[in-house]
This record gives sequence, structure tokens and C-alpha cells, in this order.
Amino acid sequence: MPRTWTDSLKIGIPLLDLQHQQLLDEMDRLLEGLKTKKSSREIKSILKLLDGYVAVHFRYEEGCMNNYQCPVGCDNQKAHQNFVQMLTQIKSEIENHQKFDLVADQVQRNLLDWFVNHIRRIDKQLEPLVKLSKPIAS
Ligand SMILES: [Fe+2]
Repeated sequence: MPRTWTDSLKIGIPLLDLQHQQLLDEMDRLLEGLKTKKSSREIKSILKLLDGYVAVHFRYEEGCMNNYQCPVGCDNQKAHQNFVQMLTQIKSEIENHQKFDLVADQVQRNLLDWFVNHIRRIDKQLEPLVKLSKPIAS
């Protein structure tokens, strides 16, 4: 199974980087599960796990953006809301027995590609702030 995570996505906050790895790995697993036509029970259990990871991660990352007074904090929150909507949409398609091939395309574009692009464009703006300063709270 090809891995989407690459070290070039690191930001320099160890827990945040670990969460990004776990999220991308879980989305890779979801994509693989859809492509290899796993049971919808298995797909649903991956989605449930992903849901939990996403909630914990977004909360933590939004806190980091606050602590470092990152100027894209608001954009980050809005983007996270969009991602949650996309995830909700994918969950409902699975519930409604949409064809796995079609859902796989969406997972690739709207979850995996979206997330990598989001890390590079928005989350990465934390990197210089982490290098320059110490966090106000850890
Ligand atoms: Fe983010």
C-alpha cells in the first residue's frame, strides 16, 4: 500500500506531526479498503476511527495555532470545517451504498489530496513560528 505521508510534511511539533502521519495512514487504509472491496462493515470501522482522530487532531492543532499566534488560524478553522463536511458526505455515501469505486475517487481527491495540500499551504505556516519561538503553553 503506497504511503501518502512524507517527512517533507513535518512542521516541527512532534505530536502534531505524529497526528498528521496517523491521519494520512488511516486515509490510505480507507482508500485501500475501498479499492480492494473490503466489507462495508470494515470501511465503516475505519471511518469511525478516522472521525475520532480528526476531532482530536483539529482541536489540538487549532490550539497550537492560537499558542503561536499564527496569522492563518481563522483560515485553518474554516478549512477544518470543510474537511469535516467532506468526511460526513463520504460517510453518508457509504451508508447509502454508493459504489466503492466512486467513493474511492472522492477519498483520493477530497480527503487525501486535500489534506496534503492543506498541510503544505496552511499548517506549514506554523513551522517558522515553532523554529523562532517557544510555545506559550505546551
Ligand atoms: Fe490544519
